Amino acid sequence: MRDNFSRGEIDLNLATFHLPVVEEIKFIEERMRIQADESHPDLRAALEHLLAAGGKRVRPTVGLLIGNMLGAPLEKLINLGAAVELLHTATLVHDDLIDGSLLRRGAPTLNARWLPPATVLTGDFLFARAAKLAADTEHLPLMKSFSDTLAIIVNGELTQMFTSRGLINRDNYYKRIYAKTASLFEMTARAAAMVSPADESAAEAMRDFGYGIGMAFQIVDDILDFDGDQNAVGKPLGSDLLNGLVTLPAIYYAEAHPDDADVLSLPQGGWTNAENMTRLVEKIRAGNYAKDAALEAENYVERALTRLQSFEPCAERDALENLAKYIVGRKL
Ligand code: IPE
Ligand code: IPE
Ligand code: MG
Ligand code: MG
Repeated sequence: MRDNFSRGEIDLNLATFHLPVVEEIKFIEERMRIQADESHPDLRAALEHLLAAGGKRVRPTVGLLIGNMLGAPLEKLINLGAAVELLHTATLVHDDLIDGSLLRRGAPTLNARWLPPATVLTGDFLFARAAKLAADTEHLPLMKSFSDTLAIIVNGELTQMFTSRGLINRDNYYKRIYAKTASLFEMTARAAAMVSPADESAAEAMRDFGYGIGMAFQIVDDILDFDGDQNAVGKPLGSDLLNGLVTLPAIYYAEAHPDDADVLSLPQGGWTNAENMTRLVEKIRAGNYAKDAALEAENYVERALTRLQSFEPCAERDALENLAKYIVGRKL
């Protein structure tokens, strides 16, 4: 199975997994767009700018495909998808401000144009509207899980900021990527099953599926920071180490070269030295460390795929399989 979707071997074709839900994704984008209708013109313009820049819409696609496969009402899936994508967008608005990133989805970030206070408040507004959209599902356990997930993400980001910088530690890494990324995939996948007539075991299977593709998604994001094509990815690359974030390719390098001076410097704050970190990035790029990390992403995806097997074959299940494979092979 592995040979079918190794990084670089799969054709990047977003359309294959988007296909069954192309129209429904447009409904979700529209539902997101109207969230600032009653608000200050600058807020409306900011949301418009964020939506126009695009994004892969992977999370709402996961929700729609799972919900459609299990017979969930479309209206609930639209609210769920809009809530999740808006929450994702809000975390990116704040993340880019925190990281000082000026480019996202090939377009200037809000913080590239606005002062921090306006950027922070816009993120807050998006969080508020995301919570409202989650409430529009009128599904109390879903709302709780949505709120818990946001808490997990923010707690993860704070932990990353206070205790993870310069830290070379696998366990810490997996916890971090669960908190910042996999938790939202997991919540989306489980919630889509929860609003459907399917039973609890289906929701558990979907939760595991979301977890696996979410872990793989962040591992690949971390790989792209080393070996991605800046134009395709649309955000600044080579920046994780400069921000003190020791991700999986760097962990593999550190394990293979424990005496490397740049590696040894990391826990002592060496990541603040841009020249040394640029050199370290080059050393990691030159080796097979991204490939080692990609194998781990593939393992997460393989385990996720096993959780789809108990469902009847259908167009949505095929698309979920394609989406899972795309996550490992993606270049953006
Ligand atoms: C970027 O997410 C942030 C991560 C969690 C890795 P995406 O890669 O889904 O970003 P967009 O929405 O497609 O821009
Ligand atoms: C962002 O992760 C995760 C959250 C938004 C919480 P990254 O920092 O890896 O995302 P990019 O690389 O900036 O998109
Ligand atoms: Mg970032
Ligand atoms: Mg990243």
